[in-house]
Amino acid sequence: MDSIDGKFQGSEPSPRTPYGGGDGTPRTPLDIRIMAVLAAARFHGFELDRDDMRVAKGESPPPAAFVRWLQNAGLWARATQMKWRQLVSMSDSRPVVLFLKDGSAAVMVRADASRNLVWLKDPSSSFDSDPVAVDELRLSQAWAGTVLLLRPERGLAQEDQPFNVQWVINLVLMEKKLLRDIIIGSVTLAVLTIFPPLIIMTVVDRVVTHRSWSTLTMVAGLLVAATFYEMVISWCRRMQILFVATRLDAKLGLYTFRRLLGLPIDFFERMPAGQIMHALNETSKIKQFLTGRMLSTALDFITLLIIIPVLFILNPMLTWVIIACSACILMIILAFMPPYRRLYRKYIEAEIAKGVTLVETIHGIRTVKSLAMEQTQKDEWDKRTAAAGEANLAAQKLANWPATLVAPFEAVMTRFVILIGAAMILSDGTGSVGTLFAFMMLSGRVAQPLVSLSKLIEDLEEQRTAVGYAASILNSRPETTNPSAGLRPRFDGAVSFNKVEFTYPGSRTKALDGVSFDIPPGTMLGLVGRSGSGKSTITRLLQGINRDYEGFVKIDGMDLREINLTHLRRSFGVVLQDNFLFRGTIRENILGGRPGLTLTDAVRAARLAGAEEFIERMPMGYETFIEEGSPNLSGGQRQRLAIARALIHDPRILILDEATSALDPESEALVNANIKRIAHGRTMVIVSHRLSSIMDCHQIMVMDRGKVVDIGTHDELVERCAIYRHLWMQQNRHIDAALERNAAAAALMQGN
Ligand SMILES: Nc1ncnc2c1ncn2[C@@H]1O[C@H](COP(=O)(O)OP(=O)(O)OP(=O)(O)O)[C@@H](O)[C@H]1O
Ligand SMILES: [Mg+2]
Repeated sequence: MDSIDGKFQGSEPSPRTPYGGGDGTPRTPLDIRIMAVLAAARFHGFELDRDDMRVAKGESPPPAAFVRWLQNAGLWARATQMKWRQLVSMSDSRPVVLFLKDGSAAVMVRADASRNLVWLKDPSSSFDSDPVAVDELRLSQAWAGTVLLLRPERGLAQEDQPFNVQWVINLVLMEKKLLRDIIIGSVTLAVLTIFPPLIIMTVVDRVVTHRSWSTLTMVAGLLVAATFYEMVISWCRRMQILFVATRLDAKLGLYTFRRLLGLPIDFFERMPAGQIMHALNETSKIKQFLTGRMLSTALDFITLLIIIPVLFILNPMLTWVIIACSACILMIILAFMPPYRRLYRKYIEAEIAKGVTLVETIHGIRTVKSLAMEQTQKDEWDKRTAAAGEANLAAQKLANWPATLVAPFEAVMTRFVILIGAAMILSDGTGSVGTLFAFMMLSGRVAQPLVSLSKLIEDLEEQRTAVGYAASILNSRPETTNPSAGLRPRFDGAVSFNKVEFTYPGSRTKALDGVSFDIPPGTMLGLVGRSGSGKSTITRLLQGINRDYEGFVKIDGMDLREINLTHLRRSFGVVLQDNFLFRGTIRENILGGRPGLTLTDAVRAARLAGAEEFIERMPMGYETFIEEGSPNLSGGQRQRLAIARALIHDPRILILDEATSALDPESEALVNANIKRIAHGRTMVIVSHRLSSIMDCHQIMVMDRGKVVDIGTHDELVERCAIYRHLWMQQNRHIDAALERNAAAAALMQGN
């Protein structure tokens, strides 16, 4: 607090090390700026993660970077310039972050326009300290006008609602301003459409009959003006629709991807990728519908509301004929709806099955090729394609019926009315020829919206199905309901399991059964055991991938469930047997998009992982591009890159799950030799079938069928654990054999 006082008391901005951190480290202006934003977000109940703030070392991030940081955490944020006058008249009680000239920041907690004062808090002092009152002159010395405004996102409620038809409608309704403009444009257009027919009526009835040149000139002028207006307004309306479509598309896309990333891993393990892709593609269908047919039908409907009264004025009798025909059309379509719906659903299911086969084949193409399974996959595909084709044919055949049956009614509406009208003129002289023309032209405009309205109902059905499929994915339970909740401690790396029991969903046997062990910080635990004994499951629980276990998993004495999930995973480095490398350069892959890291860090990590040697031999070194599936790298190289990637952020706990299994003995020896260096100051959990990789661990845990059989050092286990000894013998038979041979040879030599 006194520091902020100091800052605004002196006429010069104070030199920059005013704040000593609680832990004794001096705080930089940037630290203070970040703390100010953290404090302001905390006011709204948002606990931001500092690691999400992407700051390159030695760089001061622009205000936009803070805005992005807040927005990603679900807040509404804006950085803008303000004058003192505006600042002091901000009457609401929300804190505003003022970015100061020296790179730090202060939090404005109150403003009083009548006293011409604002109250500032120093973000680095304790939160309940009193704010300092500052006037215009003092503030202007430190502040150049940049402010950061933030509040909880109003749309957040919408974002967290389950995905359904109502959700989609709300999304559209959120575009109030654009929709209003579109409606105004449409009403104007609808009014304008009435003009030409009325003008033609005038031409036929007045100009031609009375041979009036002056009326013709006037009518021509009107027609030109109306055409021009129509042109301008329809241009505007199309632009507005385009805006709405683009915004909806972006919103839907962001929403679905965010939801998808929030789903737990076991969801992806259960659901075939093809099915997920299909369901998400459905959302683009929804968007097309909303901005295509639904919007245009709604607009047509407006036209209808304006034209029908005019029609009644022109000729009530004919108007009734039109309405009757429309009703018949509607009924026909509604009658065919239920069977069509059934067939359409079948068709969609067949399409999904087709998609699943396709994605599976592409993903497993190496296996397909190497086992020469092309024919099997082709047969499967043929079968699925045929099924989808048949289902589609059935649905479309049915849809052909209503299309055929409505044709006569459409014909009556558009063509036969003129005959009826003519008959009416002939029999009792009601109406004029001009009226008849005008009526013809306008009634053409009625038929079309009505027919498209009924088609809309048909489409709505498809949309309901589409929304249903997308919802089946998007409404699955996310991993955490509140990503910003939970503790974010700095880990030492002590891990303990206490009577942990865990069964995978849908499985009957326990994957872990009463597992208890302790790993002191900075030590190595080796895990061995037969396939399926639960080794990987232990590492999964540790990373918070599966969270419904019984018993306790603790890190540094803290229950795992209390820890913020993102923070937890960021504290780990994980290397699996099969690691996915993203498209991009080697450097990008090692850095993994982590903020503030440079090539030097990548080189350091690569050296530690034993990857430096082959990277430097690559044609472009660290800038070598890795394609999808990394075909230009060998298994061992890929593995060492993955280890480097896991080490890049210097994790406190490193998990290697069969990380060296795919390596040739030479690279394995290289990595093993590095493991000691890697392990320095870290807790390590190493799962391996090769005992040579874990021999040197401080503790080795032997597992069998989800239970801990024994735990001890290598020497102890060889002594007392039968399973371990057996494994050891198996893997060292060649050594024993060699020893025996040597002994025999020696005996022979001696015998000689
Ligand atoms: N995602 C999953 N869903 C359902 N059951 C699973 C899942 N993963 C593993 N299991 C089951 O849990 C048990 C333990 O599997 P786990 O992967 O932990 O074994 P492991 O010791 O790592 O084996 P391996 O040495 O083959 O990797 C196995 O019986 C397996 O069938
Ligand atoms: Mg495993």
